[in-house]
Amino acid sequence: IKYIPEPFRIKAVEPLRMLTREEREQKIKTANYNLFLLAGEDCYIDLLTDSGTNAMSQEQWAGVMKGDEAYAGASSYYKLVKAGQDIFDYDYIQPVHQGRAGEKVLFPLFLSKGQFAISNMFFDTTRAHVELAGARAIDCVIEEAKDPSKRVKFKGNMDVVKLEKIINEHGAANIGLVVMTVTNNSAGGQPVSIKNIRETAEICHKYQIPFHIDAARYAENAYFIQRDEPEFNNVPIKDIIREMFSHAQTFTMSAKKDAIVNMGGLIGIKDGQSDLVLKVKANCISFEGFFTYGGLAGRDLEALAIGLYEGIDENYLKYRIGQMEYLASRLDDAGIAYQSPVGGHGVFVDAKAMFPAIPYHQFPGQVLAIELYKEAGIRTCDIGSYMLGNNPDTKQQLQADFEFTRLAIPRRVYTQAHIDIMADALIAIKQRANTITTGYTITWEPPILRHFQAHLAPV
Ligand code: F0G
Repeated sequence: IKYIPEPFRIKAVEPLRMLTREEREQKIKTANYNLFLLAGEDCYIDLLTDSGTNAMSQEQWAGVMKGDEAYAGASSYYKLVKAGQDIFDYDYIQPVHQGRAGEKVLFPLFLSKGQFAISNMFFDTTRAHVELAGARAIDCVIEEAKDPSKRVKFKGNMDVVKLEKIINEHGAANIGLVVMTVTNNSAGGQPVSIKNIRETAEICHKYQIPFHIDAARYAENAYFIQRDEPEFNNVPIKDIIREMFSHAQTFTMSAKKDAIVNMGGLIGIKDGQSDLVLKVKANCISFEGFFTYGGLAGRDLEALAIGLYEGIDENYLKYRIGQMEYLASRLDDAGIAYQSPVGGHGVFVDAKAMFPAIPYHQFPGQVLAIELYKEAGIRTCDIGSYMLGNNPDTKQQLQADFEFTRLAIPRRVYTQAHIDIMADALIAIKQRANTITTGYTITWEPPILRHFQAHLAPV
């Protein structure tokens, strides 16, 4: 398929350094085969995450200069609130410093010990904040999501039959929150349909359970709805977003993704009269700072207010998803398996299919990530058993549903030539994949979220 050209041109450049293969082999060894322990400047193409790694526009940089640094009631705060109210049609918009800060402020207001939260799939930090609030997190994605080769639309959807079953099993009174993650990051940036959001909302309404959206990649999700849900083919993105959010009562957002900033987050509350607003303000003042800045500088608020609109621009979204489709089509041509159809913010390569001989406890996703770095200086990460970790009680290594290597593409940063380098590197590795039959073992690990810090060695 054809590459959709960038709807922008480049005004500021950031030079890249390309190490030799020998140097890269030395660097990854020194980093104990953990890509999080590499220096950023030693990575030629950095696909570790699409979070906070985006390129801001000239309008956003101009906004940085205009940011109002008043402690309380800065004009940049009012501009951000107005943008949030306009796009989401929610009364109350609270800035926070990033997504997990919003989770920390909001989740304890819904969840406590003995309760449960149910999601199509929790991201690591949302799961962590459910647990920190004393509750337990349950994933409830449709079964199709677990088969990377199965091309179905809206693979990020909630399994609504299972949802109702889980609610009845635990008792509706014990379910503190239902969380819809759009797009579904952990399943591969897979979208959720409006139909599924409506059905989930209906169940929440029936059982009187609050319905919450984890909105990190809401704009990419809206684009998929417009493209693939017939009712919305001719509906503007902004109207689709309003429809998505109209079914929930609250949202948290990591603005480091679709709002195209390097730092920031939001909490949204539909009903501005609710007691919840006062409680959110109180938590925010304790954890994040006064509620008109929420852990951000005035310049960050300003850049975020502008980025919210740039992130929902239809030409931008077409180009953005187009990059994923182009990379995926090159992998299709080469017979390389990935979570398909391709999702919104990256390509999740099926490392289990690439290295069938490597068992989960030798971490195929991590093997491919290391090979990509050695091959072309590309930094990615494992989304598989290495990331999942051990059973907290038995300390046994858990086996993940997937063994993915995630190529998360930053927004407005890399060109078609860079995307071709990614595809070429994967193809080169695939050609010698049958010679790679062993993986890695962990030589040291911290007790929680080990994948960020652990040390590994070849088996
Ligand atoms: N929710 C989702 C769906 C996310 O993907 C993330 C972050 C968060 C919440 C937390 O936001 O980082 O601003 O505190 N995901 C990043 C990633 C880190 O690489 O996928 P945060």
